[in-house]
Amino acid sequence: MEDQKKRVLSAIQPTGEIHYGNYFGAIKNWVRLQEKYECVFGVVNYHAMTMPYNADKLRFNTWELIYNLLAIGVKPETLFIQSLVPEHTELSWIFSCFSSFGNVSRMTQFKDKSSQSKESQKDNFISTGLFTYPVLQAADILIYKADYVPVGKDQDQHLELSRDIAQRFNHQVGKDYFAMPETLHTETPKIKSTADPKKKMSKSAGEKHAISVFGDIQRIQKQIKSAVTDAGDSVEGVMSEGVENLFEILKASDELDMYNGLMADYKDGNLKYVDLKEATANALVKQTTLFTERKKELVADKRAVKDQIKSTSSDIRKRAQQTIKEVKELTGLLNVKF
Ligand code: TRP
Repeated sequence: MEDQKKRVLSAIQPTGEIHYGNYFGAIKNWVRLQEKYECVFGVVNYHAMTMPYNADKLRFNTWELIYNLLAIGVKPETLFIQSLVPEHTELSWIFSCFSSFGNVSRMTQFKDKSSQSKESQKDNFISTGLFTYPVLQAADILIYKADYVPVGKDQDQHLELSRDIAQRFNHQVGKDYFAMPETLHTETPKIKSTADPKKKMSKSAGEKHAISVFGDIQRIQKQIKSAVTDAGDSVEGVMSEGVENLFEILKASDELDMYNGLMADYKDGNLKYVDLKEATANALVKQTTLFTERKKELVADKRAVKDQIKSTSSDIRKRAQQTIKEVKELTGLLNVKF
């Protein structure tokens, strides 16, 4: 029965292109989770305004991310755009009254991001939204009464806060209304930058540190060809971080025969880096080609995709409205009729 399936919720900010670190670390896992759970995946555009941004870019990135997620294999019926479910922000306000200032102040992502923006900005603007962002995240999760949230370790603190809020809410209303959401720690490959394998793959360090999933094939080939294999500090008998990273990409791409063959070469001391690089580049090109092909079909009729996602968002919104209705009843707020 569908009702017995556990609920999974995750979300991603529309802040730019998807790179292979995002793909192997998160989105590929979303595609898998759809088979086993009742999934809801959000493109969280309210979150994307917490840092300095541009309206046209936000609009563009929101739809681009939708096309990209669909092309990768996320099912349309699981997908929604956060601003099409405005109840998230309503619940977020209510939750801000159920979260302690002290707890929210301890969130390290705020500390990291607010110091980042200090460096990158002349006017030193740090929004209150950046500070209360984890409260909105708690609303994203609890509004669908999610059981599991597949996120990386960096989000553990935010999940903890979501549980604190749920607990305080339940205590206040004298009822176990919200179940405690749990982090779903699936082992996902953590891909490093090929330009500097000491860093994780990410755009924030600079363009060359991320390989774009929907990028240009030649650029991908070049990025792998110039991948750092030996940073000059290698230790005899220990695989260098760069080489390990290429093997990791190969494995994450499900190229197991290639992986095993090249690993055997490595163990015999016969591995040629060019072979490893060629295999890795081919693996990525194969995936990029497939996804780009599928994306081409989707963008050929943008109107249809947009209509579809607006409609799935509105279906998903019904659940959010139900929660809001109950929450307002429980907290003594008068309800609008809908
Ligand atoms: N905070 C997450 C990130 O920075 C994005 C996010 C927003 C999220 N709301 C969420 C993740 C709800 C999981 C569940 O990556």
